[in-house]
Amino acid sequence: MSSSEQTNTPNDDFEPLIQAGHRICSSDRIQDQEEGFRFMVRTSEIASMVGSIDHRVDETLPAFVIRFDGQAHAYLNRCAHVAMELDWQPGQFFTNDKTAIICASHDAQYLPDTGECISGPCPHGSRLIKLKIEEKSGEIFLCQAN
Ligand code: FES
Repeated sequence: MSSSEQTNTPNDDFEPLIQAGHRICSSDRIQDQEEGFRFMVRTSEIASMVGSIDHRVDETLPAFVIRFDGQAHAYLNRCAHVAMELDWQPGQFFTNDKTAIICASHDAQYLPDTGECISGPCPHGSRLIKLKIEEKSGEIFLCQAN
């Protein structure tokens, strides 16, 4: 089994470092409103997309991809309230009714398709930092920064 196949195994704790332009996971790894896929990104690779994050220092940060209404969406795994990871179990990002992303720390909720904060202690108008991805030929790729 190749290393790329190993990263697609459900419940696999390994979080690969994904470079821009490279494959994150296979499309069937993320099912609609189910477990997400966790991975790592370097801020230097996504510099134009990291908003308020100070990327003078090149950091490796956690990220994830989920599927909602058939579309894949990827974000930094970083709450807009406090810079903590969101999932309540590794890869579990959705509320019980599967309509929102919820932060395990203080219950901030975000729209799954835009990352916009909709309730909880995240600042008004804040949102998760969305990563540009592309899904093609049964694979999901992290796009190059513009
Ligand atoms: S850290 Fe996410 S709601 Fe507080």
